[in-house]
Amino acid sequence: MPNFYATTPIYYVNDKPHIGHAYTTVLADVLTRYHKLFGYDAFFMTGVDEHGQKVQKAAAARGISPQEHVDEYSEHFRNLWPKLNIDYGYFIRTTDGYHKKFVRDSLQYLFDKGEIYSKEYEGWYSVGEERFFEEAELVDGKDPISGRPVEWLSEKNYFFKMSSYQQKLIDHINANPNWILPDFRKNEVLGFLKKPLNDLCISRPKSRLSWGIPLPFDEDFVTYVWVDALENYISGVQDKKHKDGTPLWPADFHIIGKDILTTHCIYWPTIIMAMGWELPKHILAHGWWMIDGSKMSKTSGTGVNPMDYVETYGIDVFRYFLIREMVVGLDATFGHDSFVRRINSDLANDLGNGLNRIHKLILTNFGGKIPAPAQSGEQEKELLSYSEKAIQFAKENIGEAKLSLVVEEILNSVKALNRYLEITAPWKLAKSTEQKDKDKLATVLYTGAEVLRIALNLLSPVMPQKAEQGRLMLGGSDEVLKGGEILGEGEALFPRILEEK
Ligand code: MSP
Repeated sequence: MPNFYATTPIYYVNDKPHIGHAYTTVLADVLTRYHKLFGYDAFFMTGVDEHGQKVQKAAAARGISPQEHVDEYSEHFRNLWPKLNIDYGYFIRTTDGYHKKFVRDSLQYLFDKGEIYSKEYEGWYSVGEERFFEEAELVDGKDPISGRPVEWLSEKNYFFKMSSYQQKLIDHINANPNWILPDFRKNEVLGFLKKPLNDLCISRPKSRLSWGIPLPFDEDFVTYVWVDALENYISGVQDKKHKDGTPLWPADFHIIGKDILTTHCIYWPTIIMAMGWELPKHILAHGWWMIDGSKMSKTSGTGVNPMDYVETYGIDVFRYFLIREMVVGLDATFGHDSFVRRINSDLANDLGNGLNRIHKLILTNFGGKIPAPAQSGEQEKELLSYSEKAIQFAKENIGEAKLSLVVEEILNSVKALNRYLEITAPWKLAKSTEQKDKDKLATVLYTGAEVLRIALNLLSPVMPQKAEQGRLMLGGSDEVLKGGEILGEGEALFPRILEEK
């Protein structure tokens, strides 16, 4: 059995979860479920990033200790995941003792190896991003990421010799062209690596920031939050194994948003190289959900809160929209109209109608038992070829997480079914008394049920509950239908969203 281990970023607990967190986690969940469907021992880890200035500030603003704050806020994340039907394997918190020990041990190792040194440092510091920027990196004198003001700071700090791994990293990227996905993000990283790489400041003086993991070799400093956070990917699974006994690390996929590309594709791999660990196999950067041209967070002031869609329209429909609408890698827009259009056309019209038609026709004409096919011919062969293509396409493309395309291909098989039903018109065949029409009716309904069974099975990672309900409507078989399966209760699986005019 092949193995699969994916990760999501661990989320800052300075704020409540929003669409960005939900999307990355749904993506990891769907990808992991696809691997399970295709026979992998698949596991994914998510969690929370609890140290650093952002969190310390959020706690201070609430007048409570950072520990109290993170204990409460980490639960907002943990509690959200069941509401989105997220089946994670492990939830990590960076304030857990074993994680802190792991980070301290690794830093001591690097210090002893001569990979970490201290020096007096002066530079432009951004509180928002919790890092220093070069003069040349500033945009209009401000933090190039958040656009917020920066301040000039001078202090002693500890540095990791990141620069000495620059060429090794470039070589690795060039030798493994699909290590960073999609391709244009790889080019972005290579572009960044054309300039000389600086060493990485891995400490913060306790006088400025106390909420962090103390450095093992100088307790007056805490660990830079990103170094602490990145190591979660290994610390969280250090004692876990796949069913065949192999360790989970190295991860198959780090799933991240495009804004945290540098930390994952430069800081993290160079730390790994210095530690002598194995590199992750792929880093997949997705784009942002946008609304009115800017990155979405909670409501982005527009009144559209994507999380409300879960309440109003259901978990699976929401998951479907996220996965179908965003081409992994590119930005996508979350809009009410596109949501309604997508759900009504793909799910209510195509999949829902196909399923209802087949279910009803078998119920009225075959007493609720799926008929055995009588005369499979060219039309049926052609129709089933769409299902086979969808299976093949899914197997070939989950490796690069091309999930919107996979879903599109599955829906193509459903569209082909609806066309087949229009051409063969089983409702007309049902009225005929001729044996050949009766036989054809059996074949049409059998083939239709089989196409739907395959489509629902392939959609189960995206819509676990709806796919299961649909499967039960068709008799609950996991294997190729034989005929004779007894239909389950029928209900409209995907009601049309009716808009008030
Ligand atoms: N704590 C760090 C990650 C450490 S990983 C070792 C962090 N946390 S975060 O809470 O800010 O979450 C960031 C994740 O949410 C990123 O992957 C980011 O891209 C994603 N999103 C935040 N807003 C987003 C959208 N509007 N759309 C899609 N994802 C975006 O960064």
